[in-house]
Order: sequence, then structure tokens, then C-alpha cells
Amino acid sequence: MSARRGYSVTQIGLHWAVAVLIVFQLIFGESMGEAWEAVEEGAVPQMGAMVWAHILTGAAVLLLVVWRLALRRTRGVPETPAGSPLMMKAAVWGHIGLYVLMVLAPATGRAAWYGGIEAAAEVHEIFKPLLILLVAGHVAASLFHQFVLKDGLLLRMKRPLD
Ligand code: HEM
Ligand code: HEM
Repeated sequence: MSARRGYSVTQIGLHWAVAVLIVFQLIFGESMGEAWEAVEEGAVPQMGAMVWAHILTGAAVLLLVVWRLALRRTRGVPETPAGSPLMMKAAVWGHIGLYVLMVLAPATGRAAWYGGIEAAAEVHEIFKPLLILLVAGHVAASLFHQFVLKDGLLLRMKRPLD
């Protein structure tokens, strides 16, 4: 992975698109939970618009994240901003955690829904609080950079640079 001065337009677009889709999944996942309960009870689930939205949005996240990881590998990303060793470790591991969940959330959802694997549904459910925690920490860190450290880090996800 080579270091760059900033993120590309595509990387920035993908970051914000995936962020919106993930937040959508977290807020509107309930209908999918109800459909799954019906499956568990042996009934035919109601395939309403929100259930389809959950399935399709999840598939989109998976595709976009694979694209994003490929770009990360081929094009590279800017270096973690300098800070205390603890902050730098938290940034690196926080991002790794987000990537892992962005891949495993749709993967376990699909395994539950299409493979009927109950354990996958249980893991998928645990991902909800984990994702919320990581995203909250991530946003808090961005705001800390913006308003306390005032190092303009947020600009890296707004303005593309080579
Ligand atoms: C209001 C919400 C958000 C803000 C303000 C924000 C802000 C940022 C900023 C400033 C960076 C660049 C950090 C750097 O250059 O070191 C970044 C990177 C990143 N963000 Fe977000 N983000 C938000 C939401 C999300 C969400 C919802 C996710 C995924 C669930 C996410 C995943 C990531 C990942 C994985 C990176 C690392 C990119 C890389 O270097 O490969 N972000 N974010
Ligand atoms: C980024 C991708 C995804 C995220 C963040 C996500 C998130 C969620 C959330 C928040 C719930 C509600 C949990 C609850 O409170 O009961 C849920 C339920 C569910 N989702 Fe997803 N989902 C994603 C992708 C998918 C995909 C692609 C599928 C299937 C094709 C799927 C299948 C399910 C099923 C079967 C449930 C009900 C069982 C359970 O609660 O674990 N999900 N999902």
C-alpha cells in the first residue's frame, strides 16, 4: 500500500456513499428483523419495500466496499495523521474494524437469509451494536480532529488530492 497526499474523488465518493448506506441499514433494519422472525416461525415473510431495501442496500455496501478495498490497495491512501502512538493505533484499528464489519455484515446477512443459517443471523445481530460503537467512535474522532486539534483532517474526506 503506497502513501498518497490525499484521497481521490472516487475514494471520497465511496466513503460518503457507503456511510449513508450503512446508517440507513442501522436505522431501518427492523423490518428485516420482522421478516426473519416470520422465517424462524416457519411462516412466509412479508416481502415489503423495506425488506427489499435492506437486501439491496446490503448488497450495494458489499460491492462498494470491495471496490474501495481494491482502490486502497492499488492507488493507496494518505498516511495516518501524526499523533500519539495510542491515537494512531486507534485510527488504524478503528478503520480495520470498520472494513471488517462492512464486509462481514452483508456476508452474514446473506448467509442467514439465503442459506437459512441461524448462527449467521445471530452474528449479524451482534454486528449492529458493534457497528454503532465503531461508527460513533469514528465520528467522535473526526469531530475531535476538527474542533479540538483543528488539524483540518475532515478536509481529507472532502477535497480530493493526488
Ligand atoms: C458523519 C460521519 C463520518 C465522518 C465525519 C467521517 C470522517 C472521516 C474522515 C475525516 C476520514 C479520513 C481519516 C484519515 O484521513 O485518516 C474517514 C475515513 C474513513 N471512514 Fe469515515 N466518516 C464518517 C462516517 C463513516 C462511516 C459510517 C463509515 C463506515 C461504516 C466510515 C468508514 C471510514 C473508513 C473505513 C475510513 C478509512 C479510509 C481509509 O483510509 O481507508 N466513515 N472518515
Ligand atoms: C451493510 C450491510 C448490512 C447491515 C449494516 C445490516 C444491519 C442490520 C440490522 C441493524 C438489522 C436489525 C437487527 C435487529 O435489531 O434485529 C438487520 C437484520 C437482518 N439483516 Fe441485515 N444488514 C446488512 C446487510 C444484510 C443483507 C445483505 C442481508 C441479506 C440478504 C441481511 C439480512 C438480515 C436478516 C436476515 C436480518 C434479521 C436477523 C437478524 O436480526 O440478524 N442484512 N440487519
